[in-house]
Amino acid sequence: MANIQAEIQTLTEELKEANHQYYVLDNSVLSDYDFDMKLKQLQKLEEAHPEFASDNSPTKRVGGAVTKKFNTVKHDIPMLSLANTYSKDELEEWEARNQKLTEQKITYVCELKYDGVAIGIKYKNGELVQAVTRGDGAQGEEVTCNVKTIRSIPLSLRGDFPEDLEIRGEIFYPLQNFQKLNEQREELGEPTFANPRNTASGTLKMQDSAVVATRGLDCMLYSVHSNSKDYPGHYESVEAAASWGIKTPIARPRYIETCDTIEQIMGFVEYWDKQRSKLPFEIDGVVVKVNNYRIQEELGFTAKSPRWAISFKFKAEAALTRLNEITYQVGRTGAITPVANLEPVLLAGTTVKRASLHNADQIEKLDIRVGDYVYVEKGGEIIPKITGVELSKRDLLVMPVDYIANCPECDTELIRKEGEAQHYCPNDLGCPPQITGRMQHFISRKAMDIDGLGSETIELLFQEKLVGSPADLYELTFEQLIQLERFAEKSVNNLIAGVAESKAIPFERVLYGIGIRYVGETVAKKLAKHYRTIDGIVNATLEELVNVDEIGEKIAESLVQFFADERNVEEVRRLKAHGLQFELSEAQLANTTTKLKGLTFVLSGVFEHHSRNELKAMIENNGGKNSGSISKKTSYLIRGENMGPSKLAKAEKLEVKMISETEFVELLNG
Ligand code: IVH
Repeated sequence: MANIQAEIQTLTEELKEANHQYYVLDNSVLSDYDFDMKLKQLQKLEEAHPEFASDNSPTKRVGGAVTKKFNTVKHDIPMLSLANTYSKDELEEWEARNQKLTEQKITYVCELKYDGVAIGIKYKNGELVQAVTRGDGAQGEEVTCNVKTIRSIPLSLRGDFPEDLEIRGEIFYPLQNFQKLNEQREELGEPTFANPRNTASGTLKMQDSAVVATRGLDCMLYSVHSNSKDYPGHYESVEAAASWGIKTPIARPRYIETCDTIEQIMGFVEYWDKQRSKLPFEIDGVVVKVNNYRIQEELGFTAKSPRWAISFKFKAEAALTRLNEITYQVGRTGAITPVANLEPVLLAGTTVKRASLHNADQIEKLDIRVGDYVYVEKGGEIIPKITGVELSKRDLLVMPVDYIANCPECDTELIRKEGEAQHYCPNDLGCPPQITGRMQHFISRKAMDIDGLGSETIELLFQEKLVGSPADLYELTFEQLIQLERFAEKSVNNLIAGVAESKAIPFERVLYGIGIRYVGETVAKKLAKHYRTIDGIVNATLEELVNVDEIGEKIAESLVQFFADERNVEEVRRLKAHGLQFELSEAQLANTTTKLKGLTFVLSGVFEHHSRNELKAMIENNGGKNSGSISKKTSYLIRGENMGPSKLAKAEKLEVKMISETEFVELLNG
């Protein structure tokens, strides 16, 4: 028995090493034949002695497990996205902002921006235990079985790894494998796949892991998350990950570089902009990160992305075509968007007929005229944009655009507020697309998600004068609806039931749904958690709002303005009367206390026992408030290591009480 166990172990080690050499280090130490023979031998032994077969044996690479439905798993740390830049100027602005936020000298790390799908992989005691997709950033799907078939992802780590570890990276389709896949499909008469990224994403979510195993996906690490602080920065953590057997950009020619100047960063960007077609996989830009973890913490995050990283996107493919007409769209906030109607043109695989022109300034800046030949580009966004005019093809007779002065829908004179690029139609109560737009937003999936009710029905109900605001939906009757064309009894009942069910939708989604400008999903969540009830928000002053963590002036002003309008307050009152959720539910409050009620905290520096986000959550969950800046209202400054000198000076000047992380925990428990 001991012999067999030893043999299994030897084979396992040999196969793992060969795998690592081949898939991680691009180095072949065993012929394909020898590899297969050893693998078969191991399979045989494991079948005969399942008690010795480990979960992470190389034999598991071939897959086999079938998942009907993937579990949803919450990320320990949210998987955020990155802010984009497209020019050296923007990069310089970013760098200048960073340098304003910290007094320390910043070293940057440049990496490739792999064009695939993000994955978070957890290792416990060096063994791969879970792999989760990005999902919506807060939670994703557990695709462990499929990820285990990807040969470049180690099932067990080597070297001196931390006990608890999450690595994050990008799973992508190597171009050669993608091409092979399409050739095979063509032979079989099956439709071919359009692009490697979507195919990688689709493959990762296939039910049969044995099929995934044949696809040849690959993965490159881009971040390391663990509580052990053995390395001072990102670059060092990537080096450490490489030593644990993970595939990283380290030791690959110019895949990763540290840079001290913008010139060096631009050198990296320009090199890869030219060389990217030679890579064995697709990239869509370069990612620039602040290396040092302490400085990363100091710079922190916006609601969506870290301030300490940015992606420099390469210019997308462009096409030249004729601008036939400019039309104007009115959004739910009354914002006017000019739309270019183009002579249809093929661009990056799809036919483009329309493009956004953004606003009047944009038209003026690019001097776009109807009849011009314009350059159209498809960036990351779904709607293509116009980036320039081919002046050599301009007809002498074309005239500059006479931007509309009145609303194309209701003829009200447009306004343009100081400092804003967009024209607005101020007739919010009378302008049809604004009324329906608000209601369509209210019923949308991320807001009230009302079953049986879609955008077209909203338009119909509005035309029939049955509804003019979200609250009207809750007063619709069977008799009214059954009279409408195309409405049978079943759809009427569905609609009424869907509307009734929406009354259980949690507060933060109602808050998002009522459509306050700049209050997106994330901000709505933040506000709901902080104030707990709508009354708290309605009664908050501008100053209080600005002091809420992650709420800026623009959002605060918009909120105050919204609730200063009696009509909005009345609409909220009606919705409340219909039973919609305007406070956090018992369940949402269950894990919270009011121990820190009335206290405002500012965090500064780096902490030893909890991450910044953990501390912030502890404060909020106990009724305290987080604020980003020190003022007279700050109750406590929780002082970490390496706190910035300017903050310290301010705290001392205002005589704000300073406590350590430990003292804070005592305050909470005491
Ligand atoms: S770092 C907080 N590094 O780009 C986000 N991301 O827009 C930190 N990506 O979801 C991400 N290559 O899937 C990072 N070298 C790289 C990357 C990279 C590709 C993807 C990633 C992320 C998206 C962000």
